[in-house]
Amino acid sequence: MDKVVISLGGSILIPGENDGEFLAKLANLLKELSKTYQLYVVCGGGKIARYYINTARAMGRSEFDLDTLGIMTTRINAKMLQLALQELAEDKIPETVEEAAAMGAEGRIVIMGGTVPGHTTDGVSAALAEAVGAQRIINATSVDGVYTADPKKDPRAEKIKNMTFAELNEMLKGDHDAGKSGVFDAMGAEIVMRRRLPLLIVSGRDLEEMRRAISGSLEINGTIISD
Ligand code: UTP
Repeated sequence: MDKVVISLGGSILIPGENDGEFLAKLANLLKELSKTYQLYVVCGGGKIARYYINTARAMGRSEFDLDTLGIMTTRINAKMLQLALQELAEDKIPETVEEAAAMGAEGRIVIMGGTVPGHTTDGVSAALAEAVGAQRIINATSVDGVYTADPKKDPRAEKIKNMTFAELNEMLKGDHDAGKSGVFDAMGAEIVMRRRLPLLIVSGRDLEEMRRAISGSLEINGTIISD
């Protein structure tokens, strides 16, 4: 069975638009695909992370404290997805990559959030993919792929269908911020480049696109980063 890790942005899980309905549909899709793929989902914190982080920042708390709050929000999001999946995922949300990797099994879905301060859930998903020997990572995000420039600012921006790891490296170290924020964070990118782990950037709210990406289809609307 192929192993697939999904980095599910908080902006996808809890944008505040029919979230319960979306979660039920996402859970159905994951249930169906778990018969064919061993799935691991790492949930982001989204707007509740930003709320707690900004509030604690206004109180003058340290970055460590802000990250601790961020991690707690990723875990509450993970718990909500676990509730949607019920018996397919363990009640207990794993708190380390090692714990999550050990929970993986055919027909089961592992759901987690963040791990330690200073990381992000993209980084956690790459570390988990490395630990379990996953075939690919799906970054389910609010942009629908990587663009040559910020499509909100530049009407000439074009979506990139395929990218090599070398091109990802160039993009991340370049000073033009083409699509940078949407791609993957630096720690995660470092791992996927080192391990040559295929990374698919897709719109997470589009469940047909999610199905294609999890199944490893080359016909996605988003961007495939591989050799
Ligand atoms: P993320 O940045 O991963 O969630 O974690 P997000 O904002 O939902 O992700 P995207 O933008 O939609 O992809 C939220 C915050 O939690 C802390 C960080 O402060 C991060 O900004 N965090 C998360 C950690 O400190 N360590 C982790 O392992 C994960």
